[in-house]
Amino acid sequence: MAILVTGGAGFIGSHTCVELQQAGYDVVVYDNLSNASEKSLERVEAITGKPVKFYKGDILDRDRLNEVFEKEQLDSCIHFAGLKAVGESVQKPWEYYENNIAGTLTLVDVMRKHNCKNIIFSSSATVYGDPAEIPITENCPKGQCTNPYGWTKSMLEQILSDMQKADNEWNVVLLRYFNPIGAHPSGTMGENPNGIPNNLMPYITQVAVGKLPELGVFGNDYDTPDGTGVRDYIHVVDLAKGHVKALKKIEENAGLKIYNLGTGVGYSVLDIVKNFEEANNIKIPYSIKPRRPGDIAICYSDATKAKEELGWTAEYGIKEMCADSWRWQKNNPNGYED
Ligand code: NAD
Ligand code: UFG
Repeated sequence: MAILVTGGAGFIGSHTCVELQQAGYDVVVYDNLSNASEKSLERVEAITGKPVKFYKGDILDRDRLNEVFEKEQLDSCIHFAGLKAVGESVQKPWEYYENNIAGTLTLVDVMRKHNCKNIIFSSSATVYGDPAEIPITENCPKGQCTNPYGWTKSMLEQILSDMQKADNEWNVVLLRYFNPIGAHPSGTMGENPNGIPNNLMPYITQVAVGKLPELGVFGNDYDTPDGTGVRDYIHVVDLAKGHVKALKKIEENAGLKIYNLGTGVGYSVLDIVKNFEEANNIKIPYSIKPRRPGDIAICYSDATKAKEELGWTAEYGIKEMCADSWRWQKNNPNGYED
């Protein structure tokens, strides 16, 4: 039996394929390559020494999905496929709702028709909105999302939860990621954003490599120790390992489960700049800019539940996250285009 990994050629998906293969699972990747390169899968194979079975296809394409389920013996699905650019989702809400929601509805319909009722879903800390408590436990109420991307995550959590309640043959694990950064320590796999990055770490690495002149720090007047926004940055390899642990819950027929995947530690924007500079001995010029609309001041997890129930804890520290992000960018200045 194999694990279907939708979006498996992407940033988190490709790192998860490495961890799955290293844990002995067979993986089948399904990705339309709208935001990824097939080369990421060659890198997975180079690291693990095992072939990755790949189907190019869209989660909106029912026929193609049926074909994959007919050809492969699929036991569970880890569902990463989706559009994820917050700003773009404000400009193109329909495209986000169609791709993420209609795509997931199509996928789970095909899954249930083939009696594959195990899914791990990539959710996000964004579902907490401006969180009612810090650190954020899974009991913290979901909040108002500030963009359509966030709403797709929040709505899909609801849809998958309702399906599981109606049919307890389903096992659904909702994983709420905090801020994934870092890259595979080999320096061969990492994040490959299109155009100018929106997220902090890829922006910093592009400043470091000389593609961008300086970092803009979005606001220094938040109610935080140094006035800049605080987030829970997590190494992508730790995040990937969390999925392997979550599969154990599926194997135990655990029903519906929700976990935060974070470190439980918050770092400000200026903390990240300082740690990046120290880890890599590179100066990052920056200037203070106005707040970015929709940003919140502080967001970090209480990671206790995943530790107690999954036996999972993040192991990489912030210096390693900064060093690995930089190794990937330095070795691959144009991402997978090199
Ligand atoms: P990514 O863009 O690198 O990976 C997503 C993958 O899905 C890409 O390979 C893309 O080609 C594919 N894809 C998109 N639409 C598809 C479709 N209709 N059919 C088939 N494939 C499709 O992003 P990522 O950072 O690896 O994120 C993976 C998942 O985790 C996403 O669902 C994202 O929303 C979620 N997430 C990411 C973050 C983050 O900061 N990176 C935080 C929280 C949640
Ligand atoms: N920031 C800057 N300058 C930049 C980019 C970001 O100062 O050029 C700041 C932001 O204002 C924020 C922090 O760096 O304070 C982190 O910003 P990111 O854009 O890297 O990440 P976000 O916390 O805004 O959002 C990310 C993903 C979301 C996901 C969320 C989960 O983009 O999809 O983490 O916590 F939902």
